Amino acid sequence: MSTKKVNKIGVLTSGGDAPGMNAAVRAVVRTGIYHGLDVFGIMRGYSGMVDDDIFPMDSRSVANIIQRGGTILKTARCKEFFEPEGRKKAYENLKKRGIDGLVIIGGDGSFRGAQRFSNEYDIPCIGLPGTIDKDIAGSDFTIGFDTAVNTAVEAIDKIRDTMDAHDRLFLVEVMGRDAGYIALHSGIATGAENILIPETKTDIEELIQSLTEKEKRKKLVNLIVVAEGDEFGGANELAKVIKERIPQADTRVCILGHIQRGGSPSCLDRLIASNMGYHAVECLIKGRFNVMVGIVNNKVHFTPLDKAVKQKQRISAEWMKIVKILAS
Ligand code: F6P
Repeated sequence: MSTKKVNKIGVLTSGGDAPGMNAAVRAVVRTGIYHGLDVFGIMRGYSGMVDDDIFPMDSRSVANIIQRGGTILKTARCKEFFEPEGRKKAYENLKKRGIDGLVIIGGDGSFRGAQRFSNEYDIPCIGLPGTIDKDIAGSDFTIGFDTAVNTAVEAIDKIRDTMDAHDRLFLVEVMGRDAGYIALHSGIATGAENILIPETKTDIEELIQSLTEKEKRKKLVNLIVVAEGDEFGGANELAKVIKERIPQADTRVCILGHIQRGGSPSCLDRLIASNMGYHAVECLIKGRFNVMVGIVNNKVHFTPLDKAVKQKQRISAEWMKIVKILAS
């Protein structure tokens, strides 16, 4: 714990947007004002710090946003901030306003930037896990995952109707360049026969064999959920191989894409975002600096930023086993 007093804080959203980011911004702004702090919004993630796009916020500036997807502060992945020169510019822009604390809502890339910045300059940073990918260690939830996965489930349920009507094999690609959580959760929840994720190796021979066996048993309806970052190269690549090896299968591909990132946040995402946003400011007030605020076993949990950037949330091997058993 530090005894340094924080008076002026900045809040930003960074990396891929995630539903619930607005709810987190609202919580940070209103908790800050409750404690008598000056709160500043920083536009487009770290770019706003580098380019000096920073403005004062009050309670009214976050009215009517808790239910909105996207982020009113906009977001970006700022390359300049990963250079010492960019961070220096960013620091000077904060300093001239007297901003002495930051809340960063984003994923692991954003936390890496925060960690470097707080090591170099005396500005404490608090991270809130905001990503639809749920790939951050130190929290059972990330802001946006619940909404995104429910969007995927709703879409896949619809695909299942038409897939079933035509006895088709469908490959549905969901988001997740490096993480398979959306694929795993949406696949289990929609009864997928196979789920392909970046964290595990895809045994194509085993997959073809199981599809061929199912065909023999006249099980013609098959749903395969593929994370975009699966080592096989996504749903289109996999479909090519399946069409080559099982030409008689009536195969279709659907890529859900960015629809998963938008939309009004679920109740769960609004709740965790509000809770994490509140605790982020409490951390700055109490001198608990350079941590990520997460939720573990239903309790607020703090992970040092340097630890949060080193670890990934792991996919449970048991879930992968359950997928196989339930898909038979
Ligand atoms: O970070 C979330 C995420 O949606 C990933 O799942 C996905 O691979 C990536 O962002 C896509 O980023 P962009 O919108 O920049 O293409």
